[in-house]
Parts: sequence; C-alpha cells; structure tokens
Amino acid sequence: MSRELAFAGSWRRRPAPQQLEDRRPKTKDNFLLLTQTHCDNNSPMPFDDAPQDKSRQVLAHFNRVAARYDLMNSLLSFGLHHWWKRVAVGLLDLRPGGQVLDVCGGTGDLAVIAAQRIGPRGRAVVYDFSRAMLEAGRPKTAVLAGWGKILHVQGDALRLAFPDNCFDAVMVGFGIRNLSSMDAGFREMHRVLKPGGRMMCLEFSCPATPWFRRLYDLYSFAVMPLAGKIIAGSREAYSYLPESIRKFPLPEELSALLRSLGFTQVGYHRLTNGIAVAHVGVKERE
Ligand SMILES: C[S@@+](CC[C@H](N)C(=O)[O-])C[C@H]1O[C@@H](n2cnc3c(N)ncnc32)[C@H](O)[C@@H]1O
Repeated sequence: MSRELAFAGSWRRRPAPQQLEDRRPKTKDNFLLLTQTHCDNNSPMPFDDAPQDKSRQVLAHFNRVAARYDLMNSLLSFGLHHWWKRVAVGLLDLRPGGQVLDVCGGTGDLAVIAAQRIGPRGRAVVYDFSRAMLEAGRPKTAVLAGWGKILHVQGDALRLAFPDNCFDAVMVGFGIRNLSSMDAGFREMHRVLKPGGRMMCLEFSCPATPWFRRLYDLYSFAVMPLAGKIIAGSREAYSYLPESIRKFPLPEELSALLRSLGFTQVGYHRLTNGIAVAHVGVKERE
C-alpha cells in the first residue's frame, strides 16, 4: 500500500520438547536453542507478502534495530508502552507459580512484568526468533533470571517448540502483526495453553475519536519515520510500522477471529483512546 493511500484512510475494518526447560542444549545462562533461524537478508522494507520472504525480512529488521529497540519504543510512545504492557499483563490474572509464555517476546518487557507476578516458583519464557532481540533484553531479564524465573528460547512463533497444554498463560505484545500468518500464530498459542488458560494479545490499533485519529495519523506518518531514520537508522522500517498497523484488524474483527479459532470469553481493552488494544481469550476446559 502506498503511503498516500494508507494516510488517506485505510483504517480497515512439532514435534515438541517434553519440558519447558533443562532437556534442551543450553548455550549460555538461560538461553535454549530450539529452532535455529538464520537470515543474512538485508532487503529493504516494506516486507513482501510471500510468507517466507516476510519472515526473513522481519527477522532482518529486528536484528538490525535490536540494540535501539527499547529506546525507540520509549521515545515514540512517550513512555506509554510501559503502562500499556502493565495493564495488559494484568488482564492475564497471573497467579504465583504460573507458567507463562511470551511469544514474539523480543527484549522481554512483558515477561519481566509477568515474572514479578508469578514469583520465584513460576516461570516466564521469552520466545523470539531474533537472537539479537533476546540478547538486547538480557540486562533487564538478568535481574530476575537470577531467581530462575525467566528463560529465553529462540524459535519461530508459527511452530512453537512446546507440547500441547503446558502454559497457564500465553501473551504476545506487538508481535502478532509481524507474523506471515496471524491465524497460525494464534492457533499455536491456543495449542500450548492449558485448558482454562488465558491468552493476551497487545497490539496497536485505531484511535476511537476522529480528531485524535487525525493527530495520530500525522504523528505516525510524519514524525515516526523521521525519528526512525535519526535514532535507529531506518526510515523505511518506521514507515512500514504505521502502514502495517492500519492493515491490522479492528478490535471487533480480531475478537471474531479469536472466537473462530476456539477462544472463549473473548474481550478487549482499549488503551490511550485505542492506540493500543489488549485482547484476551480463554482456552475452553475440556
Ligand atoms: C515489535 S517486537 C515486540 C517485542 C516485545 N513483545 C515488546 O512488546 O516490546 C516484535 C518481535 O516479534 C519477533 N518476531 C516476529 N516474527 C516472529 C516469528 N515468526 N517468530 C518468533 N518471533 C518473531 C521479532 O523478532 C520481534 O522481537
């Protein structure tokens, strides 16, 4: 989609290991290498539609911006993403001792919040195919990892390297939009959830109020790409971001998709006038 079109109003309507830890080859500290993903591709954004190309380009993008990812997030959201993430993890109703999976976990923000709630007997797994993103989050997660609560696993979200029914909660923050198949991503999350377990998906969306939407359009199509160029060295990557957000299903559409994939008690919570939306769903008890 061209930038003009997007701006003009395109707001649209395994076999798996047996245990979460310990049986896999460890690299160092808490890293477990389950799925190796290699990518030397540095092709420009926006991403291609062909699934394999998209995956490769998404990986190349996050490998490239990993070192500045947290800084960019905080600057571009004026720090709001910390609050969004706290509210979103709160919707999972985590209990001490819980097992939580952070799909497309990147630098581990959601896992860190979750780890504080599940306590020393619980376990949070940050799962991402970009080794660079996982590494960039190490200083944050190291504080808690000392208690053995956060594990890092490198692998593809479209083929989660875990058995069925093994997590109390599964979450994905600003990651589902990047997958070449959103349905497949949610199906995998549903598969690894225990019956009765909760899923949370935090994603950018469309502001609810028209004037705020216009302001946000201006900000995201003018300011974001410029900031991306200056801070992360990639204007294209941060032009792609607002365009991909606008292609993402609106909250009601995403809720319908989640229901069709087997989630029950589906609901959502708008944050900051709907710039971000936290979706929740439950895997039905058998
Ligand atoms: C925008 S970042 C979100 C990181 C983190 N969840 C957060 O909220 O800050 C998206 C992450 O998804 C990861 N990702 C994208 N596609 C993936 C895939 N197919 N498998 C695993 N990780 C993927 C990227 O490497 C990146 O770290």
